[in-house]
Amino acid sequence: MKIAIIGTGYVGLVSGTCFSEFGHNVVCVDKDEKKIEALKNGQIPIYEPGLDELVKSNVEANRLIFTLDTAFAIKDADAVFIAVGTPTSRRGDGYADLSYVYAAAKELAGHLNGYTVIVDKSTVPVGTARQVKRIIKGTNPKADFDMASNPEFLREGAAISDFMKPDRVVVGVESKKAEEVLRNIYKPLYLIETPMVVTNLETAELIKYASNAFLAVKISYINDMANLCEKVGADIVALAKGMGLDNRIGSKFLHAGPGYGGSCFPKDTLALSKTAQEHGAGLRLVESAIEINSAQKARMVKKIREALGGSEAGKTIACLGLTFKPETDDMRQAQSVAILPALVDKGARVRAHDPHGMAEAKKMMPEVEYADDAYGACKDADAVILMTEWNEYRALDLDRLAETMKGKIFIDLRNVYEPEVLREKGFQYFGVGRN
Ligand code: UGA
Repeated sequence: MKIAIIGTGYVGLVSGTCFSEFGHNVVCVDKDEKKIEALKNGQIPIYEPGLDELVKSNVEANRLIFTLDTAFAIKDADAVFIAVGTPTSRRGDGYADLSYVYAAAKELAGHLNGYTVIVDKSTVPVGTARQVKRIIKGTNPKADFDMASNPEFLREGAAISDFMKPDRVVVGVESKKAEEVLRNIYKPLYLIETPMVVTNLETAELIKYASNAFLAVKISYINDMANLCEKVGADIVALAKGMGLDNRIGSKFLHAGPGYGGSCFPKDTLALSKTAQEHGAGLRLVESAIEINSAQKARMVKKIREALGGSEAGKTIACLGLTFKPETDDMRQAQSVAILPALVDKGARVRAHDPHGMAEAKKMMPEVEYADDAYGACKDADAVILMTEWNEYRALDLDRLAETMKGKIFIDLRNVYEPEVLREKGFQYFGVGRN
């Protein structure tokens, strides 16, 4: 099949590359000249494990092409995927900004020739596919096309395997013909018997938001519970295990921590709650999850302050991990960005390390100092915060850490370490939801 992907951001680049790995002929188009030039030279603009090799091999096999030329990309395509960004609107009202989606629709409309399926891949509020259809019809009344919605469920850091071995593929369509095209595109997944949920446009759009919001609710639930655990002397890690072994609950996304971050959950929960309010069907659970999540970050600042004996002023604090989760260089809505500047504001000196997030972090938090490795960050520090659970922080040499640091305060915001192990090494241990 011939596929065009509009937008080479995270979703567009991973999807286009994986479709080409399936054996389809894929053309990825973007407006950003520098990015397309870099991609042509095999330079990947994001850190995603495994992506660079996959891009390289498919470019070499001539199945994956990068271009600035929309007409070339769309010519003869069986399907055009819109995968441009949908950031939170700059108006600050929580709505998703759809201007890039609509501009892409307008532009592609003029280049359509022969039957094409136009697929919304970007995360877009319910009703967007129908609006895109109106725009294309309005711009090119003769265009022969069907509209579809095919939301993505890719986790950063695990995006390739999420694409290649998904739990399900969701497809919103209005015709059998469009369904057939999408079934053909995803045919390689039939071998591993991936279920395909075929529904109407609105339901597909909403499945994406409902899934992300549910996971966000699950995280906020466990974080709320962690707060109670601290008050009553219970242990959140054991509690989550005890809950998660019930198959109806499941153990995933029950890890207490500094609140969820990233480019998806914060944005999508907000956009969904706005859509719901607009339709007079407010989603109180989702609204609570949003509130709990922002309170959780503030609670972490308080936890750090208390661990330091009531004041962070004049203290040196090491921070291990800056990205919103491991295996990504993405700093969008990272917990560190909410927590570290608040500590510096109160007079702390913060020295941080992250395996892939420091270049971006330096731009966002110039008030923080940066070290070449974990032990460098911890040198003469009064306390260390484990902010993001990168593998390299999971088995720190605790004797070396104890020697390097001035104080012996270990604040484990991801509950990676056993409290007793740290205490045996002479540290005071502070986790989330456990004492
Ligand atoms: C999320 C979804 O998991 C994907 O299915 C979805 O496709 C994607 O958003 C998207 O909409 O594009 P992602 O944001 O990459 O993926 O990351 P997650 O692994 O879901 O983690 C989100 C945040 O929740 C991270 O800050 C993580 O540290 C936090 N988290 C996750 C917890 O605090 N506890 C948990 O138990 C799990």
